Amino acid sequence: MMSKRSVVQICGFVFFFVVVHYAHGDLSYSVLEEQKRGSVIGNIAKDLGLEVGRLSARKARVDMEGSDKQYCGVNLQSGDLFVSERIDREEHCGEKPSCVLKFDLLLENPLELHRLSLQVQDVNDNAPFFPRDTVKLEIRESAVKGAKYRISAAQDADIGKNSVQSYILQENPHFVFNIQTTSAGSKYGELVLDKELDREEQQEMKLLLTAVDGGSPQRSGTVVIHVIVLDANDNAPVFTESIYTATIAENSPIDTPVITVSASDADEGVNGEVTYEFGRISDKSRKLFSLEEKTGVISVAGSIDYEEGSKYEVSVEAKDGYGLSSEAKVIIDITDVNDNAPLIYIKSLTNPIPENVSPGTEVGIINVQDRDSDSNRQVRCSIQQNVPFKLVPSIKNYYSLVSTGQLDRELVSDYNITISATDEGSPPLSSSKTVQLSVADINDNPPVFEEQSYSAYVSENNKAGSTLCSVSARDPDWRQNGTVIYSLLGGEVNGAPVSSYVSVNGDTGVIHAVRSFDYEQFRSFKVQVMARDNGSPPLSSNVTVSVFISDVNDNSPQILYPGPEGKSFMTELVPKAAHGGSLVSKVIAVDADSGQNAWLSYQIVKSTDPGLFTIGVHSGEIRTQRDISETDSMKQNLVVSVKDNGQPSLSATCSMYLLISDNLAEVPELKDISYDEKNSKLTSYLIIALVCVSTFFLTFIIIILGVRFCRRRKPRLLFDGAVAIPSAYLPPNYADVDGTGTLRSAYNYDAYLTTGSRTSDFKFVSSYNDNTLPADQTLRKSPSDFAEVFGDCDDSPEVGTCAD
Ligand SMILES: *[C@@H]1O[C@H](CO)[C@@H](O)[C@H](O)[C@H]1NC(C)=O
Ligand SMILES: *[C@@H]1O[C@H](CO)[C@@H](O)[C@H](O)[C@H]1NC(C)=O
Ligand SMILES: *[C@@H]1O[C@H](CO)[C@@H](O)[C@H](O)[C@H]1NC(C)=O
Repeated sequence: MMSKRSVVQICGFVFFFVVVHYAHGDLSYSVLEEQKRGSVIGNIAKDLGLEVGRLSARKARVDMEGSDKQYCGVNLQSGDLFVSERIDREEHCGEKPSCVLKFDLLLENPLELHRLSLQVQDVNDNAPFFPRDTVKLEIRESAVKGAKYRISAAQDADIGKNSVQSYILQENPHFVFNIQTTSAGSKYGELVLDKELDREEQQEMKLLLTAVDGGSPQRSGTVVIHVIVLDANDNAPVFTESIYTATIAENSPIDTPVITVSASDADEGVNGEVTYEFGRISDKSRKLFSLEEKTGVISVAGSIDYEEGSKYEVSVEAKDGYGLSSEAKVIIDITDVNDNAPLIYIKSLTNPIPENVSPGTEVGIINVQDRDSDSNRQVRCSIQQNVPFKLVPSIKNYYSLVSTGQLDRELVSDYNITISATDEGSPPLSSSKTVQLSVADINDNPPVFEEQSYSAYVSENNKAGSTLCSVSARDPDWRQNGTVIYSLLGGEVNGAPVSSYVSVNGDTGVIHAVRSFDYEQFRSFKVQVMARDNGSPPLSSNVTVSVFISDVNDNSPQILYPGPEGKSFMTELVPKAAHGGSLVSKVIAVDADSGQNAWLSYQIVKSTDPGLFTIGVHSGEIRTQRDISETDSMKQNLVVSVKDNGQPSLSATCSMYLLISDNLAEVPELKDISYDEKNSKLTSYLIIALVCVSTFFLTFIIIILGVRFCRRRKPRLLFDGAVAIPSAYLPPNYADVDGTGTLRSAYNYDAYLTTGSRTSDFKFVSSYNDNTLPADQTLRKSPSDFAEVFGDCDDSPEVGTCAD
């Protein structure tokens, strides 16, 4: 098995895109027909100088032109070309002396085409055979020595020395056998009379004729020649032409006459009656044509297909009544009709195609064939317009399917591409084929949050684990490339890691509080949440979640001045000459909450002399309501309640002791005042009297008991502690204003703001005071309050507000 490689290289076309194809020269191999499957014919890798390792990647394969049958295969590991289906020389080439099968050897990436011709060598796999088993010859006894009688030659589907080589006639006294060649080149046999016949001696005889071929092993075929000896003499029929030619279009209906052959016989009567029959004829021709025995009309007997055969040669014999015959040749040419639509073969297809292929990438190779001839096989090929692909003509009848634009699976995930092919026959025939191309996903989209930022509003004292809000991001990619996972990005809030404040559910994006928040500690914080897809590498995007904590009225007002009851016996001096409206003192309170929850109102709930003092509802300033008169009690006691404006509101109370006097020395006993909580002088006196009586009584009892005990035991001390009189309470910073602890009319208000308020809450109070709001007028918290506090983008429309 030798191989040749021609050096002819035909350059392919350089197209608009960088697709470059080459059509190379022919490879030629030779193989015996009927080889076993798997028999190696040659090595294409070696003969083409290809890397064996790349054959698989380049999808090397061999296709037979115009046939779906795979006669040859390529071993992608070794590069061997091998027989993959029975190759019968006779089937492909019949009697042609040379049998060449043409193949396309196709390589991809880049597309490369090689013509491959396979010379199929004959093997003696067919025996010679005669058209009929028996040949009947009627010969007059008057026939002279040398008379010739035509015998159809034996046929052998093989060629060359594998075809018929010689004939052996059974030993007999009368005949010898000769081979003759006609002017048209066909061979026939002749039975030659060597010794005259004598009818009286022998009326008939049977001779066996054997045809042998030259193959090895030798094969043979036989025919029986039946000779009947007659009395009369005769003439052989003569054809009007030695070669008849006829033309008929393919697909002609059955019984269409093709041609009439005619032979005349000089004899008269029955002996001159000529009959026609086929002589040497292939099986194929026999199925397609019939010959009318009496008239010599050859007509169509089967379906004639140009593509199956374009030319037929048959021989026709004319015979007279005596069995004398002659032969003529009939050549029938078939003309092509455009009866074959183009056939579209998808030779290669990358499916699915990754969405990131660059424009101009070859995604498929298409081969178009039309079995007709000439213009009937000229094919135009196209695909529809609205797809990002186009067909680029390549080598011969190959086309490349090339992408023309960027693909995006998220927009169009698959394409149905219809390839149409139309030939140029008249009328033209066309066919189409649809290929479905899927676009494979590439992780090219990061998750995108539905909002640019998120805000969550939560009331302080929330439960740990409560839902704050949820974030959501979309990723249009496929499967894991589009699966979004949420996580918190590291960071700190007030020095602690964010994870100790909030957590995010990785699957749902729901954000939970990890702990209870205290508005008084911080009012807002920001966390970064990342949405990441599961691709490799993953893509992510970040979003800011602002958590706003709103105040709850969880702090009662705290009274800074005067000090808590029971701890102080602070007394304010009120000058006797004080006029109505004079400022005598001030209750100072703060509230750790904010807004309404810290908006304090003051009220006198109890007083020794109602009507003498009044308190500013929002300022807490205690003023005289009228001028002090001589009749007013010197000691005045007020109980003031401080309430915030929360819902529900919280309150605190304090007592304030006022002494109407111009001189602190006049004050008799502070203690008296401190425990005098009654607002009526009479009640006080009654109680004092009662206490005195009780004390006397108790003392008396104790003395009696004491005396009795002392008589039994040593006397014991019952009261060994003295009651200490507490000194006046003064707030530490207040004491600096005046050593006496007295609040002057012109006290400095701001002195308290610096220490009394931890936050800016107090400013609310002071500003309300300035505006002298009526007591029943409420302040509503409007969303702009938050804006003021946080200076954030709450009112920008793209901010999502979490629904708790
Ligand atoms: C392609 O064809 C298939 C089957 O005919 C059909 O199910 C599919 O929807 C088509 N796709 C497009 C993009 O037209
Ligand atoms: C995800 O994208 C990568 C490339 O980014 C690709 O290789 C992979 O096949 C994709 N996965 C799916 C399920 O489509
Ligand atoms: C999100 O934040 C992380 C951490 O700061 C950073 O590594 C990542 O690049 C950010 N992603 C985007 C899309 O900005």
